Amino acid sequence: MALRNIVTVGDPVLTKHCRPYTEFGPRLHELLDDMRQTLIQADGVGLAAPQVGVLRRVVLVIETNHAEDEPDTILELVNPEIIATEGTQTGTEGCLSIPGECGIVTRPMVVTVRAQDRNGNFFEYTGEGLTARCFCHELDHLDGVLYPDRADRMLDEDELEAMEADEGDEA
Ligand code: NI
Repeated sequence: MALRNIVTVGDPVLTKHCRPYTEFGPRLHELLDDMRQTLIQADGVGLAAPQVGVLRRVVLVIETNHAEDEPDTILELVNPEIIATEGTQTGTEGCLSIPGECGIVTRPMVVTVRAQDRNGNFFEYTGEGLTARCFCHELDHLDGVLYPDRADRMLDEDELEAMEADEGDEA
């Protein structure tokens, strides 16, 4: 496993459309393992392959909704699609590729995705709250869309300063 560099806004790789993954072999597994390590190191809640310079439809999302005595799990989604949404939530959102910024973004409250795992098996998963927000944010990355394009507005300096005491979630 190796840490990969997280590319930041301004790099054209972040605005490109990503291609599906069709070979479920060692190269994909290496990418997923590297992304996992990179995400943990960056202390984010999600990471999409284009953020490490790979134009493929692969994302990781950390599932933080669980019982207190259980650890977070990292969901690996290959070729994910949103198949159902429910409700709305409006809240702050950040991105590992846009350091030091934060915006107010409205997203669905519940999102069901259909995806493949690292071996090509299809599965469905329903996420709520932060997980649902993260699904939307990461899948947008696969189509070259960054959250400021979806934001109701971006936070100003004072709001960002006030937030620093808080824990920001970046994806
Ligand atoms: Ni992001």
